[in-house]
Amino acid sequence: MNMKNRAAVIGTGVCLPERVLTNFDLEKMVNTSDEWITTRTGIHTRRIAGKGEENYRLAVRAGQVALKQAGISAHELSLVIVATFTPHMIMPSCACFVQAEIGADQAFAYDLNAACSGFLYGLDLADAYISRQPDMKILLIGSETLSARVNWEDRNTCILFGDGAGACVLTGGREGQGVVDANLRSDGSLWNLLYMHGPESQNPALVSDDNGGSFIRMAGRDVFRYAVKAMEEAVTTLLERNGVTIDDVCLLIPHQANIRILNKLMDRLTVPREKVYINVDKYGNTSAASIPIALDEASSLGMLRRGDLVLFCSFGGGFTWGSMLMNW
Ligand code: ACO
Repeated sequence: MNMKNRAAVIGTGVCLPERVLTNFDLEKMVNTSDEWITTRTGIHTRRIAGKGEENYRLAVRAGQVALKQAGISAHELSLVIVATFTPHMIMPSCACFVQAEIGADQAFAYDLNAACSGFLYGLDLADAYISRQPDMKILLIGSETLSARVNWEDRNTCILFGDGAGACVLTGGREGQGVVDANLRSDGSLWNLLYMHGPESQNPALVSDDNGGSFIRMAGRDVFRYAVKAMEEAVTTLLERNGVTIDDVCLLIPHQANIRILNKLMDRLTVPREKVYINVDKYGNTSAASIPIALDEASSLGMLRRGDLVLFCSFGGGFTWGSMLMNW
């Protein structure tokens, strides 16, 4: 495979809301317990956005950190993509707010909604642009304020999610550096296992009967089953197609849904725990933000060295899922 001019990460950044919500806090809000949440999900705490921490503001701060690390100015960006399904406005896009706030005056900007797979879809898109124009600099951000779209009276869902943003700056890498290959999938026929209606319409004829307040709704057990199977298949196919094995992978950075999904995935892929970056205990499921937050942390901890083969995988509403190989 021609490895020239593929998208490589030159900077990462994160922004997390100040407020930490613990399982013990949740015990006071719904009929649940720290023990139930910990054993079923592995989550101990999550961040919850407050005043001045709207989705686009988290995205802006994460993006600014990534730009600083990359050593470039916002003026040099050609494109800003924000992967999200919880923008504070439907129109304009979150990405347009980011573009204006950071001063990316040469960039075009748009949002991408592929739920928890949004960041991976965005990486693949960035790779396609960069393959065409290798000197292009792209700011890709995964940013979510799921707390605004969770029913805080529904214990089945409100314990799972958190808010945050992670960003990376991408440009054409050196020979042998950057995206290697991606295997992205969707199955819209399974939409009703994990979904969220849009805001109430002003046209009563178009309001769905079971709108239910535009909250995230989920058939947890089904999602669990599909998530493990789909990510396993997406990874296995990608590895085979590229003539590599899981032993060649230096670090797996999966979407942080919950620890039992990740444990099952690690078992099926026979990948040892020390080769998998996990932070779901601290932040819960931050959807499109989970992979870039994990990527930034892994990079800051020195867990990624130039040339390392990194594997990503995700699964989310749609259903959307996929995997990607990247040479760091
Ligand atoms: N506290 C206490 N009890 C609870 C809670 C809670 N927070 N939530 C549910 N329960 C109860 C249920 O009401 C049920 O009680 P019942 O038997 O009296 O009816 C019991 O616990 C078991 O419920 P299940 O839904 O069967 O529990 P399960 O073991 O499947 O765990 C969970 C639920 C954690 C949601 C699991 O199905 C799961 O992890 N699913 C994956 C969902 C996910 O990660 N979604 C994120 C979005 S998609 C993605 O990012 C991949």
